[in-house]
Amino acid sequence: MTAPLLEVTGLAKTYPLKGGRAVRAVDGIDLALTPGESLGLVGESGCGKSTVARLLLRLIEPTSGVIRFAGTNIATLSDAALRPFRRDAQIIFQNPHAALNPRRTVFASVAEPLVVQRIASGTELQGRVARLLQQVGLPETFLWRYPHELSGGQKQRVCIARALALEPKLVVLDEPTSALDVSVQAQILDFLQDLRTRFGLTYLFISHNLAVVRQVCDRVAVMYLGRIVEEGPAEQVFAAPRHPYTRALVASVLPPRPGALPDAPLAGDVPNAAEIPPGCRFAPRCPLRMERCTRDDPALEGNAHRVACWAA
Ligand SMILES: Nc1ncnc2c1ncn2[C@@H]1O[C@H](COP(=O)(O)OP(=O)(O)OP(=O)(O)O)[C@@H](O)[C@H]1O
Ligand code: SF4
Ligand SMILES: [Mg+2]
Repeated sequence: MTAPLLEVTGLAKTYPLKGGRAVRAVDGIDLALTPGESLGLVGESGCGKSTVARLLLRLIEPTSGVIRFAGTNIATLSDAALRPFRRDAQIIFQNPHAALNPRRTVFASVAEPLVVQRIASGTELQGRVARLLQQVGLPETFLWRYPHELSGGQKQRVCIARALALEPKLVVLDEPTSALDVSVQAQILDFLQDLRTRFGLTYLFISHNLAVVRQVCDRVAVMYLGRIVEEGPAEQVFAAPRHPYTRALVASVLPPRPGALPDAPLAGDVPNAAEIPPGCRFAPRCPLRMERCTRDDPALEGNAHRVACWAA
């Protein structure tokens, strides 16, 4: 079996509040990504997806847990020791309009990581940045443009070029197309797929859009209120979702399977992560709720396959 590139165990992030309360944004998750695969992380707004992204990149400090990247636990490394990891793992954010400095040219933005890591300078630097632009489908003339002279899709391509500059192994994409026009979204998704194959990249692809995840991911992990409730091959999760939360999410984008009763659509909103309900955290919204669900937490019952539900 191929060794995972990234292996996460018991990862948690808690933000303390006044009065002894706390926001449990990420509440003990396990994940593994093998080299070259694309794992989708899905869930509604506020489930903790971006917090996972920031934790994995060590942009914020975990409260607890292990993040093993190529065998090394990066959760506890010092800033100096994190330097090689900072080259190998990159993130692409949702909003390319905010990710680029309006006063810097495309050249300056894409060159920045190469300059910071002291990898290239002078004409070599310009040549490398021009090649990166070519790889993301932008002409060399764009080098001297400013963000306001670019469309949303072109800005996201510049962000992708910057993320690729250091030849990373892992790319975390946090809703990479949701700020773009629908017509541009499809182009960027195709392009991201192509890049993954060409450069052998490993993706953690975060989205609340199941249709997008179905299109681009090999595996899917479903997150609800700080935990992963179901995880498996994308085909399997979409064809036969097990957890009632996954079933409701899938029902919102796909017609019912032939012969199967339609699953009820999701009602209500994700509860506040500072007020996690007792027992099963999905119980207040679950159409299959049983008496014990509001009392016992299925995730603590030693469930296999990360499906934390008695009904799944
Ligand atoms: N710095 C912070 N301080 C306190 N609470 C936070 C902080 N950052 C995130 N949270 C809370 O943690 C929970 C998870 O937030 P997160 O941004 O990870 O969700 P998300 O799944 O990415 O949502 P979205 O789909 O809207 O981007 C939310 O309840 C959020 O309010
Ligand atoms: S444990 Fe109970 S409330 Fe929770 S998802 Fe399963 S059936 Fe629904
Ligand atoms: Mg988010």
